[in-house]
Amino acid sequence: MDFTGNHIISVSQFDRPAADRVFEVADGMQPYAMRKRITRVLQGAILSNMFFEPSTRTRVSFGSAFNLLGGEVRETTEVKASSLAKGESLYDTARVLSGYSDVIVMRHPEAGSVAEFAKASRVPVINGGDGDNEHPSQALLDLYTMRMEIAAQGRSLDGMSIALIGDLRFGRAVHSLCRLLCLYSNIRLHLISPPELSLPDEELDVLRTAGHKVESFQDLSAGIQDVDILYVTRTQEERFPSQQQADRYRGLFRLNQSIYTQNCAPNTVIMHPLPRDSRAQAQELDEDLNQNPNLAIFRQTDNGVLIRMALFALVLDIVEDIDNHSRPVTWFTAKRHLPV
Ligand code: NCD
Repeated sequence: MDFTGNHIISVSQFDRPAADRVFEVADGMQPYAMRKRITRVLQGAILSNMFFEPSTRTRVSFGSAFNLLGGEVRETTEVKASSLAKGESLYDTARVLSGYSDVIVMRHPEAGSVAEFAKASRVPVINGGDGDNEHPSQALLDLYTMRMEIAAQGRSLDGMSIALIGDLRFGRAVHSLCRLLCLYSNIRLHLISPPELSLPDEELDVLRTAGHKVESFQDLSAGIQDVDILYVTRTQEERFPSQQQADRYRGLFRLNQSIYTQNCAPNTVIMHPLPRDSRAQAQELDEDLNQNPNLAIFRQTDNGVLIRMALFALVLDIVEDIDNHSRPVTWFTAKRHLPV
């Protein structure tokens, strides 16, 4: 896969060497993300960060990643604050914005919209999540985290077993993750969801074609036994026709420390793309797991910056220049390295 100048719209663009290249470049970003060094390699470059759906970590980490490479960030965060609200087409918006930016990240509520936008853009476009379709940078950071967590146990991802829990129908992070997992061999997947929110056939086919073993469960305790990684997700309430319909599925699967202790091996990794829904009626990932050393959710969010820096560095072709434009950080940073 050639990254330079290209859009990143779907994980289907990635083969194993391409994913490994992103991970290798992400590893090299560690000193910058940890504020040991700063680099100005993207000084003068502009990112347009267009988020037409709610977002905290994806938006801020894409922005921070660009800033950490020395670039400037322009943000538009609502449809009503942009000319899309005046009936402007994605085509026109893309033609205009790509005249103002060096790279664009876009999140949009409609599946396929980011691909449509990218067709009219003269600069690389990175998909920050398009409806219930895909979320490539999330899947890359999830896979990067899985590899690290499992490597810390002296094992590799090939042959691992992973439970995907919750709203597998509308969860775009899950859809992209399933496709990326096809780059590995012999994965066993436990799909734990209510039947109405099960994984779409398209993703199921992709997993089976890759030779992975897939088993479905409707019971949390049964599904989380004998797996290496738990990947918990939130009910994607914004994708349901009404709040009432979404409410039917909230709180059906709640992972907490006691269920974990009863059913899982003590080194089972716990992940979630976040945000977790901590309201009383949901709580799919209980806060009583916060002190569990296998809870990797904040390692995921930290890794998000590394992965997004790597994507910018690759599409803008500056990987080899980063260190040449760098110097040590001089301000106080010691506390950032302490455990919380
Ligand atoms: C996810 C998303 O937006 O798809 N969040 C994220 O970007 N980390 C998952 C979610 O919203 O549940």
